[in-house]
This record gives sequence, structure tokens and C-alpha cells, in this order.
Amino acid sequence: MAKTIQAIRGMNDCSPTESPLWQWVETQVREVLNSYGYLEVRMPIVESTPLFARAIGEVTDVVSKEMYTFWDNDEQLTLRPEGTAGCVRAAIEHGWIYNNEQRLWYMGPMFRHERPQKGRYRQFHQAGVEVFGIANPEIDAELIILTARLWKKLGIDQHVSLQLNSIGSLEARANYRSALVAFLEQHQALMSEEEKERLIKNPLRILDTKNQALQQVLDDAPKLLDYLDDESREHFAQLCALLDSVGIAYEINPKLVRGLDYYNKTVFEWVTSALGAQGTVCGGGRYDGLVEQLGGHAAPGVGFAMGLERLVLLVQEVNASIPLKSAVDIYLVYQGEGTALAAFQLAEKIRSALPQLGTMLHCSGGNFKKQFRRADKSGATLALVIGESEMLNNQVVVKHLQGGVEQQTLDIEKVIDYIQSQF
Ligand code: HAM
Repeated sequence: MAKTIQAIRGMNDCSPTESPLWQWVETQVREVLNSYGYLEVRMPIVESTPLFARAIGEVTDVVSKEMYTFWDNDEQLTLRPEGTAGCVRAAIEHGWIYNNEQRLWYMGPMFRHERPQKGRYRQFHQAGVEVFGIANPEIDAELIILTARLWKKLGIDQHVSLQLNSIGSLEARANYRSALVAFLEQHQALMSEEEKERLIKNPLRILDTKNQALQQVLDDAPKLLDYLDDESREHFAQLCALLDSVGIAYEINPKLVRGLDYYNKTVFEWVTSALGAQGTVCGGGRYDGLVEQLGGHAAPGVGFAMGLERLVLLVQEVNASIPLKSAVDIYLVYQGEGTALAAFQLAEKIRSALPQLGTMLHCSGGNFKKQFRRADKSGATLALVIGESEMLNNQVVVKHLQGGVEQQTLDIEKVIDYIQSQF
């Protein structure tokens, strides 16, 4: 036998038994986004590398270590590690935001060369939202309220909690950065080489270190919230008041800075303790400078993205009552001269009249016993049986595969009404 070829590490197949749950999760996401009036956009998976370097930041982990980058003749291209940069690029390119508000969403694969583990993959899927042209905190609150509604729909609301912070204006952050560096320089003995490097390149990222000794010291570090400019402070207070007024609980986490450089003011993450180390199911925030930084007319922006693998895992872990229905509702079996054609015609008739049902035609021959075994395995509720005598009499036998109801013979023109009465 020829040697088999395996999938790339950290890049998963979605099996036929997993896809119904994925489809259900995706449907809940779409329904919630549609119910807020957001519009879907689709961007390419590949973009030019400088887009990500400029938007996400050269010294972030994503850009400095995790991008899949390659040369296409003399152009350097990258598999998108996230959706915000591409969405902003598209919005500028097509004039979606000029003098206009936009509330957009997207769903699709993203790529990061990280070390794979449960909940962390090299190809993963995000559903993301980006809102352009609205500066006030009502929209930050709407995004959070929208995600809270989704968690309810997915049955995971008791297992996620909201972390909130404001990282202020660029200037406030620069002031804070100096204070933090001055503080951390006294504790270099506790730092790994990587952390020492971060101290120079991206000191705010030290705030979410996993190094426990350093974590303890950080409790006494200067707090970003104390360095906020007045406008950011006011924006944050209004956001908190809005969330309070609709009863959404949150924890203000002064160490939450997020791993991408484009943020200002609001940042947030929804986290769970049910998935081990990869507990962030959704993250986002405001990025008021990004559109201008990428060459557009200045326009505020705010958004978030959720990791669909993590949501699917969490739903599997905590929601035992997902209403997943079998892909097949009706299974047609047939045997004998000319019955295949009759079965094909009946199946097509059912699909035209009742497109919401899954109607499967046996197709692969064999006696009735074998065919019924397949019908049972398919999970269908009804089997429709056409033998030679049924065909000659323009009839069909209806059998309830889940038991409970006697089988019966129906005239073929009554079949659609009968099926309809059963679902
Ligand atoms: P992010 O925090 O890098 O933000 O990713 C958002 C979510 O994607 C994470 O919370 C996580 O659920 C999921 N995720 C990230 N990396 C992986 C991975 N390797 N494997 C599985 N899931 C992963 C962003 O991407 C921003 N673009 C979000 C945003 C939109 N901010 C404003 N607008």
C-alpha cells in the first residue's frame, strides 16, 4: 500500500460526526449577528505581509513569531492570522467607512504558527465583528451585550465571565509604559530572557506573564487605569455604567492588555475555566487609530473575535441539550425491476415539497434486510419502501424506524401529506 499523507500538525479536519455541532454553533452566531442588523463581509485568506506588520505591530508575538509568510514572486504574502487588519484594509479600499457607519462581521479560518494544544491550533476559525465610525461607548456596550446574548443561546453563559479594562490613549499608554518599565527594572532578577527582551520591546505584555514570581510582584506595579487620560476614563466609566444598567457582570482586570498593538481605550475578553490553559473564547476592543494608520480617513473602530474551536469545545463540555437533529429524516429503500426509477421520482418529489427534511435514497443495492440496516444507521425517522408490487399499485410502504407506530401502505399521492404530518 502507498504511504499515507497526514494533515499538518495543528490543522484539523472536521469530521461528518462533528460538523452538525459546528453548523449549529455557526447558525447561532449568524442569527445573533443578523438580529442586531450587522452585515457579513468576506475577505481573502491571504494578504500582503506589511498589512499585518503595520496593523498588529512588529513586536507582537503574532507578527514576530507566528505568521505563515511566503514569497509570491517579489511580493511577500501572509496567511491571515486574524481578521481585523484585512477588514480595515477592505473597508478603506472600497470606501465602506468614508462618512459612514458600518457594523460588519466575518467568519473563517485564521492561521498562527503556535505550539498546538487543546484549544490552540495552527489553523483555527474565528467569527469576528468590526464596527467603524462610532466613537461613543454605547457601541462598545452593544458588542458586549451581543456576545452575552450569544453565550445564552449556546448554553454556555454560566461558564464564561467578562474581563474588562481600558488601556487609554497612545499618550497615556506611553506615560504608563515609562512608569511600568521603571518599576520592572528593579525586578529583572525574576525575569526570563524572553521577559527581559519584552521589557525593552513590549513591556505591557509582561502584565499577562505566566511567571508566578513575577505575577506576584506585578500586584504592586503601577496600574494602567491610574494613568488614563480624562477622555478614556470617561469613556470607560460610561461603558461600565451601561453594562451595570443591563445587568452584565464584569471584572475590571488592570493587567488585561491584549496581544495586538492596535487597541486603545476599551479592551475585553470572555474567559472560561472549563477549557484548561486556552480559556479565552472571545477577545476584542477599540482601535480608533487603525484606519488612519492604514491610510484611510480617520475613523474610530471597535470589534472582537471569538475562537470557534473553543466555543465548540465549551458547548460540548457544558451544554448537554443541544437540539441537533439527524441529517436524514426519510430513507428510501427499494428492490425489484423498475423500482429505482420510482424511488428516484418520489425522493425528488419529497425534496421539492419538503426541502427542510433530509431525504436519502439508498442507491447501493442489496436486499431489503441490508437496506433497512442502512436506514436504521442513518438515524432517519421514516423509511419509505418501494417493492415491485408497491410500484405497480402506485403505492409506498411507510415504516417508522424509531418504533411505536404500525407500518402502513399509502397511495403515492398521499405520501407528502403523511410525511408532513409526522415532522
Ligand atoms: P485574538 O485575541 O488574537 O484577537 O483572537 C480572538 C480569539 O481567537 C481568541 O480569544 C481565541 O478564542 C481565538 N484564537 C486565537 N488564536 C487561536 C489559536 N491559535 N487557536 C484557536 N483559537 C484561537 C483577534 O484576533 C482580534 N482580531 C480580535 C478583534 C477584532 N479585535 C478587534 N476586532
